[in-house]
Amino acid sequence: MYNILKAAHSGWAYLLLIVLFIATVNALIGLFAKKDFGNKDFSLALVGLIVTHIQLLLGLALWALSPYSSALFSNPSEVMGNDNLRLLAVEHPLMVIIAVTLLTIGYSKHKKKIVSHGKFKMLSIFYTLAFLVVLSRLPWDQWM
Ligand code: HEM
Repeated sequence: MYNILKAAHSGWAYLLLIVLFIATVNALIGLFAKKDFGNKDFSLALVGLIVTHIQLLLGLALWALSPYSSALFSNPSEVMGNDNLRLLAVEHPLMVIIAVTLLTIGYSKHKKKIVSHGKFKMLSIFYTLAFLVVLSRLPWDQWM
């Protein structure tokens, strides 16, 4: 079960990075090129949000079943003192939860804006921040 979840989480991460990159760049282009906000822009932002929320659920289940969460509770000082264990048990989960929160705030704020500029601005700010936060704490060494 754990290996299936890990494979799903690992594979879904590729899709997530591609979709989030496209949604973020699309928002930035819309902002700086002063485009009108259309259905395509709305769909890209929504798909980015959905794909990330699915990864959040996979990640939470993976974390709960992982040896890292149990080690964190049974031996916190050892986990926190080891860079790799701390990354998988604490830093990666915490940072991506912050990223999902940023995405959700950005998505909800863009919906409340009336004009195109305001919509693109909200998506640009929050999606860019979220994307950078995700990238900052991925377990790159073991993934790639
Ligand atoms: C934006 C969302 C996320 C992305 C892009 C992402 C990406 C990744 C990647 C690429 C790996 C390495 C997989 C591998 O080695 O094959 C990984 C591992 C892991 N992730 Fe995430 N993740 C996300 C969210 C989460 C969340 C929310 C949690 C938990 C609350 C989580 C917990 C874990 C754990 C525990 C591992 C280590 C699995 C292992 O090595 O056994 N992830 N994640």
